[in-house]
Amino acid sequence: MHIGVLTGGGDCPGLNAVLRAVVRTAEKEYGSTVVGFRNGWRGLLEDDAMVLDRPVVNGLLTRGGTVLGSARVAPQKLRDGLGRMREVLDAHGVDALLPIGGEGTLTAAAWLASEGVPVIGIPKTIDNDIHGTDLTFGFDTAVSIATDLIDRLHTTAESHQRVLLVEVMGRHAGWIALNAGLASGAHLTITPEEPFDIEEVCRLVTARFDRGHRHVIGVVSEGATPKPGTMPLRDGGLDEFGHRRFTGVAQQLGEELERRTGKEVRTTVLGHVQRGGTPTSFDRVLATRFGLHAAIAAHEGRFGQMVALHGTEIGLVPLADAVAELKTVPKTRLAETTAFTG
Ligand code: F6P
Repeated sequence: MHIGVLTGGGDCPGLNAVLRAVVRTAEKEYGSTVVGFRNGWRGLLEDDAMVLDRPVVNGLLTRGGTVLGSARVAPQKLRDGLGRMREVLDAHGVDALLPIGGEGTLTAAAWLASEGVPVIGIPKTIDNDIHGTDLTFGFDTAVSIATDLIDRLHTTAESHQRVLLVEVMGRHAGWIALNAGLASGAHLTITPEEPFDIEEVCRLVTARFDRGHRHVIGVVSEGATPKPGTMPLRDGGLDEFGHRRFTGVAQQLGEELERRTGKEVRTTVLGHVQRGGTPTSFDRVLATRFGLHAAIAAHEGRFGQMVALHGTEIGLVPLADAVAELKTVPKTRLAETTAFTG
């Protein structure tokens, strides 16, 4: 069998570990070969391919990023390019395509699958917002990086009796904010799932200082928004992928908070550092298991599916179901932060 792989969307620690696992499983267990398309779907549209064999993937387990490169391609371009992708796959004699990506990449995978192309999706995103899998690799690494950095902010905030707001990634879902907030003992966590009320935030901050505490740490998802009518938020509009352009919600919240409470506020935006460097051991294992099981599923002809973590087992879910909605943080999980707020 000849397997095609690509890594699409924003990169994420663990992508290289998946590539290594796919190649090792394909070659060693089945005597199959693997071709990689560079820069996500763009590589398939432009027929930009490279051989992926064991010498290429040796040593990749611990390396962040992706040796294939990654890119975002606008949904309309993907829809228009489905015919071209099929041509390129045929030209390479690809019997199974394993696209590794988040919502955008997997949606295009589902389109191809619905046209009869043999596809098995592999979910990745630090945001952990893919439906149908308990976790995605990259998330654990992002949370541990964010946690480590927030730990460091406690001491400087305390020395200066400041409020420190930390903006973490999470466009549509607050998983990183929730977990990094709990892990680092944040006093306030703001996620996209629950629009924040600036007055409530001010009350919480003032009350904490009034109780004699010397600092406040607030974790804010980049996709957080204020309750309508409570605080203006600059709107950056939508980008070509239909994503809201971020204009720094934590910074804007911080300015308003400082103005209303008179407390000194500083804002730290963690940004792409959350996606960089070597994956945690948890993510190395999850990425390896996803790659292994995707390669097995390809050889068993179980197409139109996505590998997924269910409890401790790796299973398969229909791609169409996985991309039907995003996995946001449920109210029950948000409620768990109440005891640690303030
Ligand atoms: O989807 C993963 C993610 O890291 C989001 O958390 C973030 O909003 C986005 O990608 C950033 O994208 P880019 O790398 O294109 O700036």
